[in-house]
Amino acid sequence: MTGYGIHAARSSDLDDIVRLYSLSADEMEDKFQQPRQAGHIEKMLDAMEDTHQICLVATYLAEKIGYLFWSDLGQTRGTALGLGTFVLRDHRKKGIGNDLTEEAIIRARAKGWRSVTGVVSVGNDAGMARCKKAGFREVGIVVSLAF
Ligand SMILES: CC(C)(COP(=O)(O)OP(=O)(O)OC[C@H]1O[C@@H](n2cnc3c(N)ncnc32)[C@H](O)[C@@H]1OP(=O)(O)O)[C@@H](O)C(=O)NCCC(=O)NCCS
Repeated sequence: MTGYGIHAARSSDLDDIVRLYSLSADEMEDKFQQPRQAGHIEKMLDAMEDTHQICLVATYLAEKIGYLFWSDLGQTRGTALGLGTFVLRDHRKKGIGNDLTEEAIIRARAKGWRSVTGVVSVGNDAGMARCKKAGFREVGIVVSLAF
């Protein structure tokens, strides 16, 4: 698609990733989602330098319009976690979510990761569709304890 792009997050993306993360947390507030903790955002930002993480930014022209963050936590023998994917509403349903996921899978394979686990809320049709399209399959139910 003309004007759209994806790149590995860099330090100049910091403010935009925090903004997008915050919008994502607002939108997901009523669903199963990581709480909005400063520490969590910091971890995401560390991803830029950390070989155990994949942090991608989606752009439209000069605007940052989405992100994806996966981490293998550095100690899980190649079993990584999907910790967030978000695309601004105005840019949804144009394939950006698919593109972010496909690019992350290419990078995950290159790192030697063996699997990636994501958590998608029941009823999040867009999140589920994106994951299934990328080859994820449903494996279980997660209990929400402190959300
Ligand atoms: C989930 C999200 C990242 C998808 O981004 P997107 O750029 O709109 O995704 P795409 O356009 O690449 O669509 C991905 C697939 O989901 C489908 N899809 C998109 N929105 C959908 C919706 N509301 N309902 C059902 N399917 C949907 C698309 O048809 C596509 O499948 P296809 O390629 O087989 O046609 C975006 O909706 C979002 O940011 N949601 C809020 C945060 C969130 O839920 N994150 C995911 C947590 S797992």
